[in-house]
Amino acid sequence: MPQKIILDCDPGHDDAIAMLLAHGSPAIELLAVTTVAGNQTLEKVTRNALAVAEIAGIHVPIAAGCDRPLVRPREIAPSIHGDSGMDGPVLPPPTRQTDSRHAVDLIIELIMAHPPGEITLVPTGALTNIALAVRKEPRIADRVREVVLMGGGYHTGNWSAVAEFNIKIDPEAAHIVFNTPWPLTMVGLDLTHQALATSEVQARIAALATRPARFVQELLLFFGETYRREQGFAWPPVHDPCAVAYVIDPQVMTVRKVPLDVELQGALTLGMTVADFRAPPPPDCHTQVAVKLDHTAFWRMVETALQQIGEGGQ
Ligand code: BDR
Ligand code: CA
Repeated sequence: MPQKIILDCDPGHDDAIAMLLAHGSPAIELLAVTTVAGNQTLEKVTRNALAVAEIAGIHVPIAAGCDRPLVRPREIAPSIHGDSGMDGPVLPPPTRQTDSRHAVDLIIELIMAHPPGEITLVPTGALTNIALAVRKEPRIADRVREVVLMGGGYHTGNWSAVAEFNIKIDPEAAHIVFNTPWPLTMVGLDLTHQALATSEVQARIAALATRPARFVQELLLFFGETYRREQGFAWPPVHDPCAVAYVIDPQVMTVRKVPLDVELQGALTLGMTVADFRAPPPPDCHTQVAVKLDHTAFWRMVETALQQIGEGGQ
């Protein structure tokens, strides 16, 4: 049985690849794509999600959500993702509308309409929509199978010395999501910095020679440039599809159960995800972190998904 997921994202170069991986994997049933302000404004990331859907032939509902964090002023990342939020490829104009529902309502509706334990939430942007959904309809906490999110890091940050972008821009939302007692897997920077799109990886994707593969190639070229310039990486770390990969096959990474929380007070540590590794986790520990990636298996998954998509929406 494929795993039913809702992908809540802010495309975003790596969010786009997460969409393709979810769509192209038979182990996943993508129920909806919801968007949230993050890498760029809500308007831009939603337009980008529609463009990815167009390229890949994704026909599920796409609903726009929150256009700013719960408490703090909006912060975006043009230094990494460009002015469009997905600079590099030429994007096709959207040929369809977004779903008329707000992302938060669509998330709640889908979860409440399915039996408990069926839907996995996969957030790859700020956690604003997810936090609001669980506040608006607290019963979803018991019905969600699991939350597998890209965000945070237990040893490093990228938007400050210790905080990762998705968590740092809406730490209050992250605090709500991490402190809701649903099973939660944090696929953070410690893991995603292993998901490097090396020259070999990029060559294999280029060799697929389909339109969606060319699209990924162009995304990786731009993303590679900004990561080289802004963060000193030789190859871009492709964060968001790692969370989808874990849902496809948890064997693709090792995880460790550990209590997690989000720092809301620190002048230097706001948005830090704090993992308490001091002792064996307590019996009610509902959180775990991803530690080690099988790089070969991960990129094989992405390539297989692209093969499955073929020429996609054309
Ligand atoms: C995360 O931040 C965004 O820029 C990426 O899309 C990813 O979700 C990495 O810190
Ligand atoms: Ca993202």
